[in-house]
Amino acid sequence: MSKKRLFTGLQPSGTLHIGNYFGALKPFLDTYEEYDSHLMVADYHSLTTLKNSDELRRNTVDVVKDYLAAGVDPKKAVIFKQSSVPEHTELAWIFECLVSVKFLELAHAYKDKVAKGLEANAGLFNYPMLMAADILLYDTDIVPVGRDQQQHVEYAREAAKKFNLAYGDLFKEPTEKIVEGVGTVPGTDGQKMSKSYKNTIPLFGTKDEIQKAVMGIVTDSTGDRPENVYAIHKLFRTDAELEVIYEENKGKYKNLKEALLEDVEALVAPLREKRDSITDEMVAEVLKAGGEAARAEAAAKMSQVRQQIGII
Ligand code: TYM
Repeated sequence: MSKKRLFTGLQPSGTLHIGNYFGALKPFLDTYEEYDSHLMVADYHSLTTLKNSDELRRNTVDVVKDYLAAGVDPKKAVIFKQSSVPEHTELAWIFECLVSVKFLELAHAYKDKVAKGLEANAGLFNYPMLMAADILLYDTDIVPVGRDQQQHVEYAREAAKKFNLAYGDLFKEPTEKIVEGVGTVPGTDGQKMSKSYKNTIPLFGTKDEIQKAVMGIVTDSTGDRPENVYAIHKLFRTDAELEVIYEENKGKYKNLKEALLEDVEALVAPLREKRDSITDEMVAEVLKAGGEAARAEAAAKMSQVRQQIGII
C-alpha cells in the first residue's frame, strides 16, 4: 500500500521564528519520514507582501537553509519552490472560477487587512485558492500548520469538493494537523508571535538577538509569575519542571528570563552551527532536484484536471 501524503509550506518573508518552528516545522519533522512528504517554499504567496526582488531571493535561500538545519533530509522529503511548478498558479485560477467572492471575503488574512482599513491586493484576496492548489495537486492527506492556517486548509477542502462536484471526483480532501499547545505560539508581548507584530524570537538569530528578544518579553509587575515568559517557556519544558523553576524564582523575573534564554539557546545553538555549514550551492541543488520531482507529479495531476474541465 502506498504511503499517506504530508504537505506543508512556509513563506520566505524573513527569518523563521520559534512560532513557525513549534507550530509547523517541528510537527512536520516529527512525522515526515512516515509519509510521502513535501515541504514547499511559498514564494508566490510572499509576493502579496514582499516587493523587493533581492530580499525575496535571499529569503528563499535562507528558508531552505532553515529547513535543512532544523533536520529535514532532502532525500526523505521533496523540498521545492512554489514558483518552480507553474501548475500551482494554473490550478489556483480554476479554483477561483469555482468559489464565490463572498466565500473568499470571509478568509481571515483578507478580512483582517480590510478591518484595519488597509487596501488588500487581489493576490491576498485569492491567496486561499493558491494554497488549495498547493495542497491538492499532491493528493495530500495531512497538512501540519499553526492554528492561523486552519481556515485555509478548510478552504482547500471546499475547493476539492467544488471541483469534484462540478467535474467528477479527482481531489482528495486534506486534513490539517494542529498540535495541541503549540497551535498559536505567543510572542514577547503575549499576542500571537508574528513578524508583523514585531514580537518574535528568531529561530536562527545570533545569541545576542535571541537574548535581546527574551529579555524584552513584556512582564507586568502584579503577579509572582510573568505570564508571557511562562507561556513561551512551556514550549521547552513540562508544567512539572516549570513549577519548580518558577517557585524557586518567585518574583525574580530576570532570573526566569535567563532560565528561558538558556533553554532557547540549548535548542538553537546546535541548529545554528549546522546551518552555518550549509552553502548556497547545496540549497540550489536541493531546490533543483525538488523542483523537478514536484513538477513531474503536478504535471501528471494537471493533465487529468485539464482533461476533466474540457480544455484538452
Ligand atoms: P506562514 O509563512 O505565515 O507561516 C508558516 C507556518 O508557521 C505557522 N505559524 C505559527 N504557528 C504557531 N504559532 C505562531 N505564532 C505561528 N506563526 C506562524 C503557520 O501557521 C504556518 O503553518 N499560507 C501559509 C504558507 C503556505 C502553506 C501552503 C502552508 C502556502 N501554501 C500549503 C501549508 C500548506 C503561510 O503564510 O504560512
